[in-house]
Amino acid sequence: MDSKRRKYISGLAQLNFNVPYSYSRDLAERMYNESMNVFGSLTDKIQYEDALKGMKAIPDNSVDLIIADPPFGIGFDGKKSNYNRNEVLIKDGYKEILDMPYDVFSKTWISETYRIMKETGSAYIISGWNNLDKILNAISSSGLKTINHIIWKYQFGVYTKRRFVTSHYHILFAVKNEKKYFFNRFEFYPEDVWEIKREYSKGIEKNGTKLPIALVEKIINFSSKPGDLVFDPFMGNGTTAVCAKKLFRRFYGFEINGIMREIHEKKLSTTTPGEDYMDLNLTKPSIEELSKKYPHLKKIKKDLP
Ligand SMILES: C[S@@+](CC[C@H](N)C(=O)[O-])C[C@H]1O[C@@H](n2cnc3c(N)ncnc32)[C@H](O)[C@@H]1O
Repeated sequence: MDSKRRKYISGLAQLNFNVPYSYSRDLAERMYNESMNVFGSLTDKIQYEDALKGMKAIPDNSVDLIIADPPFGIGFDGKKSNYNRNEVLIKDGYKEILDMPYDVFSKTWISETYRIMKETGSAYIISGWNNLDKILNAISSSGLKTINHIIWKYQFGVYTKRRFVTSHYHILFAVKNEKKYFFNRFEFYPEDVWEIKREYSKGIEKNGTKLPIALVEKIINFSSKPGDLVFDPFMGNGTTAVCAKKLFRRFYGFEINGIMREIHEKKLSTTTPGEDYMDLNLTKPSIEELSKKYPHLKKIKKDLP
């Protein structure tokens, strides 16, 4: 019996690993073109209004992926010079919380998130640690099931004297149906700590907080297909919309700060559909790359029929 058991060879499973859902560029483009009315006249639109009100008009079970980076409710006005930014370039009117306590605010939009998500859908909710308890409570009372609690580790937290420098955010990955949610594991060993640098673009106007493109694209690639609808209730700089377009996905969302419209329009008009798209099977490490860590793999590959 034992002699029949296959010998364990380190690195071999990774060498043989295939991405579950892989779409050629042509196929992805076709899926994108076919989805141009996936959300009727609201496909690829951002509405400049309160998401808590606007989300009520979204039909049940209609969204494939939700990426939500809500205001953190800690009195941040989007202009503090925490990140060495030139305040003049940060658009006025970052809206902080609002006319209700943070737990009520969170429960309101997260219960709507559950309702509008498809059975196959996923939500990624970004939170600092200060109000994390309220977000976690809202997730569990909404009916969403938490799949992972991801840590996003970034560089350069704000300098502190009598406490540790905060250099991470929490990303709660939650789904409606644990058996049906779509997940394209395109990395062999996808860990729940993501080290991704914040972006600092000199001299470009922006809203006070911005997620890195690499982070949003990672979420989209893991949890949606070309042509799917990605929804963001708090668009900010429009990163979700831009990344969706760059990856042949559709988008919809809200931003309460109407001043951002001009920035969104400028960015989206200079973004080409599919400009960052890649068949995910082509992102796997090559035999040469894997052999640096597992030198025996090259010989095994040669011996294979
Ligand atoms: C943390 S920022 C989002 C940043 C965004 N993820 C990006 O990469 O640029 C939160 C945004 O939510 C907006 N906001 C706050 N309350 C809102 C509400 N009730 N409805 C819609 N947008 C809101 C703020 O104006 C701000 O732009």
